[in-house]
Amino acid sequence: MKRTFLSLILLVSVFAVHAKTLVVYYSYTNNVHNIVTELTKQIDADVVRIELAEKGLDYAANNYAIGSALISAIRNSPNDAASYPAIDPVNVNLADYDCIIIGAPLWWSNMAAPLQTYLLHNGAAMAGKKIGLIVSSASSGISGVEGDAKRLIPEGDFFNPSLWIRSSQTSGATSMISQWLNTIRYDEVAKVENVPADQNIGKFTIFSVSGAMVAKDALSMKDLEKGVYIVNGKKICIN
Ligand SMILES: Cc1cc2nc3c(=O)[nH]c(=O)nc-3n(C[C@H](O)[C@H](O)[C@H](O)COP(=O)(O)O)c2cc1C
Repeated sequence: MKRTFLSLILLVSVFAVHAKTLVVYYSYTNNVHNIVTELTKQIDADVVRIELAEKGLDYAANNYAIGSALISAIRNSPNDAASYPAIDPVNVNLADYDCIIIGAPLWWSNMAAPLQTYLLHNGAAMAGKKIGLIVSSASSGISGVEGDAKRLIPEGDFFNPSLWIRSSQTSGATSMISQWLNTIRYDEVAKVENVPADQNIGKFTIFSVSGAMVAKDALSMKDLEKGVYIVNGKKICIN
């Protein structure tokens, strides 16, 4: 009884530190902006909004001709940085974050061009991080946007599924977002706890992040190398 109580107290302290999440989004007509506003009522996250360097563009003019041209340029030469529109500088250190949620409008079946620019330059720095994708479209399916995200963040550890919210669903997105967070087990999966190696962890089997058992009935993690492990369903970072 005493031992169980002691383990519980230690567990509380072990699991006290939370992972950091960044939400990166672009929004022209504010649907994604409103979705992100709702999302950040439900999770603790820093938020960055991407802005095109060129101001005052009217995407709706001439049947969305400007957006169409921006997407065509990327489609024609996706590996050429010159195909992507310039964006304002973004002052964020991705190394500070374990989880990144991307809020993307769909443009002609692809990810909105300004967000593609950001990911072209920063996708490599997201390797190994948990990546969530939320897509807003009027009606088109989102597989092209998912393809763009995977192309631009090739080593990302993507939550599955992505969340698709149609423009008409924006104002009622609260429950769609909370259901999605439950489905992807955001609370469990996105958490990375920082634990000193000699911290007593109760008595748990420890797994690597790829699922291999690394220790059975371990009481502490002091014999393990620094890194991230799964203990009792939680991600724990030994430092
Ligand atoms: C340039 C451009 C192209 C678009 N292409 C499509 C499309 O092919 N299919 C679709 O369902 N919606 C399309 N949309 C609509 C947007 O995906 C939708 O309105 C979305 O909610 C916009 O998000 P935002 O308000 O955050 O910018 C397009 C919008 C723009 C501006």
